[in-house]
Amino acid sequence: MSIDYTERIPNNVNLAEDRRLQRALESWQPAFLHWWGEMGPTLPTQDVYLRTAVAVGKEGWANFARVKVPEYRWGIFLAERDPDRRIAFGQHKGEPVWQQVPGEHRSSLQRLIVVQGDTEPASVEQQRRLGLTAPSLYDLRNLFQVNVEEGRHLWAMVYLLHAHFGRTGRDEAEALLLRNSGSEDSPRILGAFNEETPDWLSFFMFTYFTDRDGKYQLGTLKESAFDPLSRTCEFMLKEEAHHMFVGTTGVDRVVERTAVLMREHDTDDVAPFGGIPLAVIQKYLNFHYSVSLDLFGGETSTNVANYFTTGLKGRWQEERRRDDHVLTDAVTTVEQIDGGRIVTADLPALTALNHDLRTAYIADCQTGITRWNRILASNGVTGHGLRLPHVGFNRKVGLFAGCHITPDGRIVGAAAWEAGRPAWLPTPADKAHVESLMRPVYEPGKIAAWLAPPRNGINGQPLDYEYVRF
Ligand SMILES: [Fe+2]
Ligand SMILES: [Fe+2]
Repeated sequence: MSIDYTERIPNNVNLAEDRRLQRALESWQPAFLHWWGEMGPTLPTQDVYLRTAVAVGKEGWANFARVKVPEYRWGIFLAERDPDRRIAFGQHKGEPVWQQVPGEHRSSLQRLIVVQGDTEPASVEQQRRLGLTAPSLYDLRNLFQVNVEEGRHLWAMVYLLHAHFGRTGRDEAEALLLRNSGSEDSPRILGAFNEETPDWLSFFMFTYFTDRDGKYQLGTLKESAFDPLSRTCEFMLKEEAHHMFVGTTGVDRVVERTAVLMREHDTDDVAPFGGIPLAVIQKYLNFHYSVSLDLFGGETSTNVANYFTTGLKGRWQEERRRDDHVLTDAVTTVEQIDGGRIVTADLPALTALNHDLRTAYIADCQTGITRWNRILASNGVTGHGLRLPHVGFNRKVGLFAGCHITPDGRIVGAAAWEAGRPAWLPTPADKAHVESLMRPVYEPGKIAAWLAPPRNGINGQPLDYEYVRF
């Protein structure tokens, strides 16, 4: 179904046919625009070369044009409905999917949607000042692209709340604009979304590790028996791919520049030469990876087991799994702490579904590490490499919360952990160095000296294209 752009709210859900819903969303729209004005990007621009969804099908779904950012056409886009879709897992496996919310699952589904919805505007808030220090117009444009799409993902969740959850849904939609990242009084729901994203190395790590968590969460909701949620998440995943591209290639370029400087000056300490030392990149990686692991929740959860059994939330790539999709007798091996040692135990697979999702996520994160180490090697840097810290390192949620675990997986005492900390997580001096490199480069085709230029422009445009105009 194509998207109707003649409407005040672009959509492919026949909004015009449901006057009540249309009016409700049109009354939420000014609140969203107000929030965007207050909490969105702080850098004023004339226009930005942005993509906007024009269809939800596989081919050519996006249109690229210069857009005034506050006039971006945020809308409601669901992937095409499959009239034959059936529930793929749990106790309702094989039954037709639901077009309406079953009464008994109302509050659980609403909660899942609110938690997902809360992360979307949070990242816009976290990134709002980054435009002031963009390393190029190309990067600045990518930042705005990510920001407007996270805004659209908020719309996606708000649509579901308004369309399917009545009065409490509308209240929750309003509350999504009232919580703010890092706020003392009303913070965002999840920890990682209250952390700061003060510099572009953090931004690239965030889009690599934290947006990737989003990909996995959306992947489980895409399996939902509640079909509108499934279709919403399917299209969000399409947009999300670009966010992770920004992270992957962003870290690529930092690593490449660091490697070049290391070789040129025959030193690990590239800071005096305007680069970011590999050790500092590793510390940023350690931080963003560990806070992103926390987003998967506790390793075991009876709530999540119930979500699965009742069909609300599936597993990553549920339909590709070669098991019974019910899991009543299955077990999963999970790490545990026992008498000061990390051991493994077999637990019921149903209660260990967060662990299952996290395992898929970790394997995916590892592909970035392999890629960055290849970049180091191809630039003549050997003997050094990046790596993922142990899953228990720096955790605030789950089995490892409160434990002191080193990046290489040793359990140590509090004093030893504190002593090791400056080597494992960014120190004030590391942050100050990274911050000192954050100077805006707004001349078309020019790139800051702390990272390599991108391989390609956006949508076939040259690198010196004026991606943003002031
Ligand atoms: Fe998103
Ligand atoms: Fe994202």
